Amino acid sequence: MHRKLVAANWKMHGSNALTATLLGTLAAQPPACEVAVFPPFPYLAQAVHLARGAVGIGAQDLSAHAQGAYTGEVSGAMLHEIGARWVLVGHSERRQYHHENDALIAAKLQRAMECGLTPVLCVGETLDERERGITESVIATQMQAPLHLLGERFAGVVMAYEPVWAIGTGRTASAVQAQAVHAFMRSQLAAHDAKLSRLIRLLYGGSVKAANAPELFAQPDIDGGLVGGASLLAEEFLAICAAAH
Ligand code: 13P
Repeated sequence: MHRKLVAANWKMHGSNALTATLLGTLAAQPPACEVAVFPPFPYLAQAVHLARGAVGIGAQDLSAHAQGAYTGEVSGAMLHEIGARWVLVGHSERRQYHHENDALIAAKLQRAMECGLTPVLCVGETLDERERGITESVIATQMQAPLHLLGERFAGVVMAYEPVWAIGTGRTASAVQAQAVHAFMRSQLAAHDAKLSRLIRLLYGGSVKAANAPELFAQPDIDGGLVGGASLLAEEFLAICAAAH
């Protein structure tokens, strides 16, 4: 049984004031589960300072490059230097709006690990793909390039299953639907390397709330959550963390 992890993806929300409120609350009442918070870049240093080590801080993206003339990009080394220890890689919003493909995502994962960051690799199918009955092949394809590139080092990755149709829609995958995909992900890992399927934590993301977190987190292959909207509300997020034990 893994220690549960609850991650907060603020997306493009926040301010100095909200960072102070949310990290102040978490530092004052540290949840029993492991927590990682992913604010936008400008608030990372403030978040690291306020978290006082009680929760981990991570970025929502990193460059695949080490350094150089890449205007607008942020390197893994920079993130590590300011105290970030986590990074989201391959979120569906990066895949959709920034055209990130599986090869780029695999390169970002590799870069993150070289820089001492724990990557959270996000995978998930669209509504159209689910309705066409190809959820498993979509997930398998999204896992293939990273597994191939990282090999045994994939053991240092956390994965998040985020069905695109459940993100920000209020339409959560049922616990049964989520568990089925998580079990499939574990079988894919096992097919690659039996150790991986035991070591890797699999988070569920998509309209996680205090009301549905207990049932989701009770599933045998769900090791925590990746929370968007509800992570911006301190009490709601603390209640989700309390459901992860
Ligand atoms: P919501 O919790 O707002 O649906 O977002 C999920 C998500 O995309 C987290 O990365």
